[in-house]
Amino acid sequence: MSNSNKKLLDIDAALQMEREDIRHYYRRYINSGLVDMMSLMDFDKQFVKAQGEKVWDAEGREYLDFLGGYGALNLGHNPPVVQKAVEQVGERPNILQASLNPLAAAFAYNLAQVTPGDLEKVFFGNSGTEAVEGALKLARAANPGRSKILYCKNSFHGKSFGSLSVTGREKYRQPFLPLLPDCDAVEFGNLEDLEMKLSRNDVAAFIVEPIQGEGGVIVPPEGYLAEVRQLCDRYKAILIVDEIQTGFGRTGRLFACEHEEVVPDIMCLAKSLGGGVMPIGAYIARPHIWNRAYKGIDKYALHTSTFGGNSLAMAAGIVALQQIITEKLTEQAEEKGNYFLAILQQLQDEYDIIKEVRGKGLLIGMEFNQPATGVLNKLTGGKLNKLAVEYFGSLVASELLDKYQIITAYTLNNPNVIRLEPPLIVTQVSLDKATLAVEEILRDQGFKGVVFNSIRTAISNVSLHR
Ligand SMILES: Cc1ncc(COP(=O)(O)O)c(C=O)c1O
Repeated sequence: MSNSNKKLLDIDAALQMEREDIRHYYRRYINSGLVDMMSLMDFDKQFVKAQGEKVWDAEGREYLDFLGGYGALNLGHNPPVVQKAVEQVGERPNILQASLNPLAAAFAYNLAQVTPGDLEKVFFGNSGTEAVEGALKLARAANPGRSKILYCKNSFHGKSFGSLSVTGREKYRQPFLPLLPDCDAVEFGNLEDLEMKLSRNDVAAFIVEPIQGEGGVIVPPEGYLAEVRQLCDRYKAILIVDEIQTGFGRTGRLFACEHEEVVPDIMCLAKSLGGGVMPIGAYIARPHIWNRAYKGIDKYALHTSTFGGNSLAMAAGIVALQQIITEKLTEQAEEKGNYFLAILQQLQDEYDIIKEVRGKGLLIGMEFNQPATGVLNKLTGGKLNKLAVEYFGSLVASELLDKYQIITAYTLNNPNVIRLEPPLIVTQVSLDKATLAVEEILRDQGFKGVVFNSIRTAISNVSLHR
């Protein structure tokens, strides 16, 4: 039988799949390890509806989404205005290389208006990692004679080759070595380390997150980014600020670098840039930097992307940005974030198992102390030791999901940190609910001083669904 005669699944068939079927297709055709991990955490439910801060599963149960698409859902799920914007594109071409797209022109203009300082030259791609790739290439081309790129330990900038080369997590890097040459890590938050490397005068660029998101929501010392700006100026290195997770109101400023009035040379954007509806990645650069690399008819096509600046994505982006501004989501993030952080820090004062609660705006991380390995071994008979050791935060997340219908997850680089990153439209009632749920988990299951019971419960929950 020729392949074209094989029966293919249509959308109806896909949407009617049972949980087991989805697992099967994922296992065979996508990634079996992902299925194992998701099943273990009970993260493989089928959700059939999503609106704002809530999603509903196939049984009609309502959940609060405190993942917020890892920063991609600042406006919440399925914001109607953004969905309508996409429809508004109507019969216009979505991509047509033989034309200039008015929607891309308008969106680039808008971004230049709202980003700090003289940032104004925009490149549109389709994901965060693509934004970072573009930024790295621009920095190299704009700083000829210098090849070195500095990045921070514990950082996360994406998983394509260039982005991975400046991502500070060994686990993700190791299987792909050697990565890009001339990339060097410095300690996040450590200005001396940075200056030592910059002073060799061979650094083209330094890339940094204003707050390390996947690294476990790490806030650098106050004044760090402003000093970084000065050091980069002094040693003629281009400063790339990755606002992919921190941007669009998340930390209580439209962009987190505004907390310290820093104007980067290049800023990376993605996630909520497309309103959670369309995938968009972009960088925006200061004109003198961009001109050095790409100005002129012989250089204009040095960096491109087929779907970059497509009509549907641009329409979504224009309206999403408008909505963030008119609904004052940035101000909301600041106010709600201050409240949430304060009540969670009260919990920390009461429970030893909480190592730290930290963050800015509605980018909050709750780090747990790791229970002793010997204790875990005894409890689990050694069986789940590795999982519990590496993914303790995920065990707490699974309790929040199973018992309280609150969706959270651990951060990629630090599995002992639960990320609390709800849509910026989250209600205070939901913030209270999440806090009480964490409190109840810790109290009822004896986390205070004795953490073992909760681990036992989490493990038995997990095995129930395997
Ligand atoms: C700061 C930062 N940069 C880059 C990325 C990569 O974005 P994407 O997954 O869209 O490639 C992420 C994703 O979490 C991120 O948090």
